[in-house]
Amino acid sequence: MTRLTAVLAYHARSKHTSERYAAGPGTLDWDTQPAAFREWAGTHQQALPREVQMSHITWGELAAPRAAAPFNTANLGSLLRLCAGLTAWKEYAGARWSLRAHPSSGNLHPTETWLIAANIPGLEGGLYHYQNLHHALERRAWNDTQAAQGVWLGFSSIHWREAWKYGERAFRYCQLDMGHVLAAVAYAAALHGWRPRLLTLDSASVAGTLGVNRANDFIGVEHEEAEVILALDACPDEPPHNWQHWAGKPNLLDAHPLYQWPVIEEVAEATRGTLPLAHGTSPASATSAVTNDISATQVILKRRSAQAFDGLSVMPLAVFQKMLASLLPGGSPVWDMWPHTARVHPLMMVHRVAGMAPGLYVLPRTATQVDALKTAMRETFTWQPVDTQLPLYQLIAARAGKTARTLSCHQDIATQCAVTFMLVAEFAAPVAADPAAYRHLHWEAGMLGHVLTLEAEAAGWRGTGIGCFFDDADHEVLGLKDDCFQVLYHYAIGMAVDDPRISTLPAYP
Ligand SMILES: Cc1cc2nc3c(=O)[nH]c(=O)nc-3n(C[C@H](O)[C@H](O)[C@H](O)COP(=O)(O)O)c2cc1C
Repeated sequence: MTRLTAVLAYHARSKHTSERYAAGPGTLDWDTQPAAFREWAGTHQQALPREVQMSHITWGELAAPRAAAPFNTANLGSLLRLCAGLTAWKEYAGARWSLRAHPSSGNLHPTETWLIAANIPGLEGGLYHYQNLHHALERRAWNDTQAAQGVWLGFSSIHWREAWKYGERAFRYCQLDMGHVLAAVAYAAALHGWRPRLLTLDSASVAGTLGVNRANDFIGVEHEEAEVILALDACPDEPPHNWQHWAGKPNLLDAHPLYQWPVIEEVAEATRGTLPLAHGTSPASATSAVTNDISATQVILKRRSAQAFDGLSVMPLAVFQKMLASLLPGGSPVWDMWPHTARVHPLMMVHRVAGMAPGLYVLPRTATQVDALKTAMRETFTWQPVDTQLPLYQLIAARAGKTARTLSCHQDIATQCAVTFMLVAEFAAPVAADPAAYRHLHWEAGMLGHVLTLEAEAAGWRGTGIGCFFDDADHEVLGLKDDCFQVLYHYAIGMAVDDPRISTLPAYP
């Protein structure tokens, strides 16, 4: 089987349909949920300062250029809290669970965060695992000599965390989560005046640098899949690697795994590769009338996924427009970190937005894809331009609440929200050109979800990712007959209804 056929076969078999969900565990014993935190026993652990810096910057000012903060433990602790740290503990009926700065499918958090430090005051040089539970760094590897000053973040996924609950579809969720994490880093870095750059290292180099290829260290415990490394600000393109000293042993997360999903390792292998060089991005293409003086760090730390929406609230048009503008290249710091040609495009089932007829809308993120989308989708779609600033088109006027619910695996949030997004990716061509694009398209979709969720939060609304949807039913509604385009993610934005029975406790008491 070639890499391409492996990816296409995985994508097809991990689709949900209303008759058959992708293969997953028939039964789940909640008491045997894998441990939520990976820890490296035998490493030196260094607590990070817990205080969040930059809380004076408002959401409206977040994207403005600012001087880079110095690299030190206070600022790095602040960065990590804002992108990968815990934001709260929740308690209900004897159950207790933590939330993080980014959402995660099933709150299972497959992404592990690594930090490489060279010549940072207060921190020995080396490779560190970020231990979210204690907001600490575990020193995993180091060299005898120090490199020039720099900070890099690396990421790996523990597939089993998601596969335990979601079976074969879990690889997609790991990749969508990765996109959320990258977007969270972009926002947190922007607050500190740092411009993160994703490095074009191949998967084997990322694995070697993060040590997740050290098979002996992972004997008997869950393996980690290398994802990507980014340089914070103007650090060299090549992080320190070829570590001379290693320490630590990872903990076992699940002592009694009941099922196995070998196709996940197959698709992981088929999608290893290199992030391509970026083509550059265009400057912000839309301006917004909405100013926002809420603290940006508050937006990030208070972000939650809605578990229910009120089904009534009408979203002001300006909020909707600002949200859409931030999805366009140049519209958010996230797209500075992802300066690739946009390949994932939002379609919206608008239920309740002031001044907009309920119906299906599309926001092509590149002008060049308008014709391709027109050709691929239903001929009867009207492509009526509806905004003077945004490339926003109405495709059809219709009340689509029930359709949105059905397509989203019958989940009420998809109809109670104000808008249900379907994120549709250019698919067949990019994946054929490079099977690793399968990961990158999911990252882009996850980033779009993260931008939506923080923009919604900043405006007093709330978002929820929807990884469970009926793939080909979506494609039928849109009239997509082949896999030139594929929907990779749904997102619901609306007015949240909180559950008063759930209590909230501080992340780091
Ligand atoms: C990729 C992805 C898929 C998700 N899919 C669903 C979904 O289908 N239904 C749902 O109610 N929530 C979904 N969520 C929301 C998660 O359940 C939520 O993020 C998690 O419980 C953590 O809560 P928090 O976001 O408030 O921190 C999804 C989140 C992500 C990132």
